[in-house]
Amino acid sequence: MATIIDGRQIAKDIQEEVIQEVQALKQKSIHPHLSVVLVGENPASQVYVRMKGKTCEKVGISSETLTFPNSIKQDALIDVIEKLNENPTVHGILVQLPLPNHIDESRIIQTVSPDKDVDGFHPVNAGKLASGTTDGFIPCTPVGVLELLLRTNHPPDGKHVVILGRSNIVGKPLGLLLLLKRKGGNATVTFCHSRTYNLGSVTRTADILIAAVGQPEIIRKDMVKPGVVVIDVGTNRVEDASAAKGYRLVGDVDFVGVSEVAEAITPVPGGVGPMTIALLLKNTIKAARLKLKE
Ligand code: GUN
Repeated sequence: MATIIDGRQIAKDIQEEVIQEVQALKQKSIHPHLSVVLVGENPASQVYVRMKGKTCEKVGISSETLTFPNSIKQDALIDVIEKLNENPTVHGILVQLPLPNHIDESRIIQTVSPDKDVDGFHPVNAGKLASGTTDGFIPCTPVGVLELLLRTNHPPDGKHVVILGRSNIVGKPLGLLLLLKRKGGNATVTFCHSRTYNLGSVTRTADILIAAVGQPEIIRKDMVKPGVVVIDVGTNRVEDASAAKGYRLVGDVDFVGVSEVAEAITPVPGGVGPMTIALLLKNTIKAARLKLKE
């Protein structure tokens, strides 16, 4: 039976570290502040944004959520972000995705100042990671996944890591992070995605399998090697009339089946999710620290 990797506990440990870092900054008269921009009424986004705000409060980071209707024009949203870029008391800016269809997501991402881009989505930050430097912002979920591996003593160095998913938010930056020539990098990385032929024949070769495609329980027991370490990034709502909310959350991995053969596995919820928020706190501290260099 697999060990269950407790993302909630590891995220709490990181929060404790952040509390110390916040105090040190406040002693230097820097009060870390995160501005979150939320457009529309996507229920999942509303939940994530609320959790981000609550967690900031817990560690002493001030945060505000600027909420706009689905109908906001792209130019108006750009104005909002430019004002946040210019505001010296705002250290981090996060625009919750997805945005409505009439707004060009990449245009909005490019409007956020790279120095305040705590999501690490701006092409300057994405390019830094792709060229092998780590002084920029690195997306929160990939770093959260790496921290889960390192803090449970499953370093990726030299291992075959199979990543299922090629998004700009998780799959792609995670692959780049695991390829870095440093401790906690040096992995042999294979990407799979929705067009991969015979997925199981690839996933069965993984020492570490990371699933981030948003397909409920696509990874079954017969698709993994015994002793694999499995990180499940998926958070899928599936209808369940017997659940209090009418749905339940499942990952991209069949947790019950895969647990029987894996060495270690993350649950959903309580695995990667809390880590993403913990790493957002870390990135906000990194942004606030840039003030020390001004
Ligand atoms: N939507 C889903 N994941 C994320 C994330 O990490 N950051 C933002 N801004 N939006 C998201």
